[in-house]
Amino acid sequence: MLKRLFGALMLMACLQACYYDNEQDLYPVVPGNGCDTTTISYATTIQPIMQTRCTSCHSGGFPSGGLALTTHAEVAGSINRIIDRITRNEGDALLMPQGAKMDACRIDQIKAWANQGALNN
Ligand code: HEC
Repeated sequence: MLKRLFGALMLMACLQACYYDNEQDLYPVVPGNGCDTTTISYATTIQPIMQTRCTSCHSGGFPSGGLALTTHAEVAGSINRIIDRITRNEGDALLMPQGAKMDACRIDQIKAWANQGALNN
């Protein structure tokens, strides 16, 4: 009887550990847990994200979707469309960057910057 109870407890412990592992894979950076959404600015936070994740397609003479994301004016001017696209679910054809959702921290930083007025700071 005791042995059975112990087995059940071990199983529960394992299931719980596995659950938390999976959650960490899905959300590598959880806001309030190492994600800075307060000391952010266009120059130090937003532009680098655009440069590493977006401008390979959204720049130049013929930017994808007719949308360049190289200057502050371009990013600020399309911030609602940007947030709509980056917060879509994995597998959604409209997700940006295409087929590879950014980590939660980057998405939250972009949202926070928008909430602070999408300043050229
Ligand atoms: C591999 C190329 C590629 C990358 C990288 C990419 N995009 Fe796109 N994006 C496209 C294409 C192609 C379209 C046009 C088709 C569509 O609307 O889905 C598009 C469309 C868009 C649109 C819609 C434009 C409109 O007029 O409404 C937005 C907003 C957008 N992308 C934002 C982003 C952001 C923000 C990033 C980076 C986080 C990004 N994209 C990264 C290829 C890309």
